[in-house]
Amino acid sequence: MSRFEADLAEINAALQEHIGSRVPLVEEIARYSVLGEGKRLRPLLFVLSARSCGGGGTDLYRLSAIFETIHAASLLHDDVLDNAEVRRKKPSSARVWGNQAAVLGGDFLYSKSFGLAVGHGSLPFLEILAGTSTRMAEGQMLELAHTNDWSLTREMYMEIITAKTAVLISAACACGAVAAGAGEKEIDCLARFGMDLGIAFQMIDDLLDYTGSENVFGKPVGKDLREGKITLPLIQTLAGMEPVEAKALRERFETGKAQDEDFVRLIQRVREAPCLDEIQSEARACVERADRALEPMRDVQAKQDLRRLNRQLLTRSF
Ligand code: FPP
Ligand code: MG
Repeated sequence: MSRFEADLAEINAALQEHIGSRVPLVEEIARYSVLGEGKRLRPLLFVLSARSCGGGGTDLYRLSAIFETIHAASLLHDDVLDNAEVRRKKPSSARVWGNQAAVLGGDFLYSKSFGLAVGHGSLPFLEILAGTSTRMAEGQMLELAHTNDWSLTREMYMEIITAKTAVLISAACACGAVAAGAGEKEIDCLARFGMDLGIAFQMIDDLLDYTGSENVFGKPVGKDLREGKITLPLIQTLAGMEPVEAKALRERFETGKAQDEDFVRLIQRVREAPCLDEIQSEARACVERADRALEPMRDVQAKQDLRRLNRQLLTRSF
């Protein structure tokens, strides 16, 4: 990421500027959840996408803040939904200030993002954002409806991760093109690039949930299973088991009979499952598809940077 140091500094400065509030507690929660650790992947993709279409200037950084604040708003809400202890290596806002304050902090950041977008004055830009937050809420609702559902299919899993994660990443890329005044073709290329990158991103996130180390990843290992979240590593591990064994496990977990040692054992089982390599390969295929989506774009430095960022996803550990 050192290559993007200057951009990241500008993005962080823009974020600082746009989370002020007349109510100190709101500002405190906003600052706590937006500033500090965080990859700034979405704003960076926005800036690079705009540049790849010939856009430039400092206004890009201001607009890029939209994608980090929507993301941070969604995480504030997500931590309430997931009852999460830790976010970005710190106690979650919900733990520090309570669920009610965390939800309102999310509402505040979400509103700030739309305020910034309205200031830009582009209807297509706003349309993408409105469609995006609608799908994020739908994705999150689907995930909620399938909590502890051990019959979750990989098709439904893909639908959930596309809506809850990939759509916002795709929007950051597409809106970058819109902000640069690009045409339909370029907007479409970047939207597809972001969608596949976003799907790979969440697949890797779900792998790291089992295989990562808490110190580096910033979230506890096995958190998804403990939250009743059925993700691809578990779906595939179950599919690779003897049906009787899978059925017994399912019965134990779905009925809430599983004890701590059952969780520890199953997490270890998933960590050692051969399907983890297949999931890594699937994520690689998404990254490659994203890469190909940029083929028709002009060969400029920003396009190379987008491709580099995309590839780096596969080796990320946080
Ligand atoms: C984290 O996923 C959560 C999301 C990617 C999306 C959350 C979306 C919402 C709460 C609905 C829409 C809200 C707004 C403000 C538009 P995860 O739980 O898999 O990741 P984690 O392990 O980091 O918690
Ligand atoms: Mg969560």
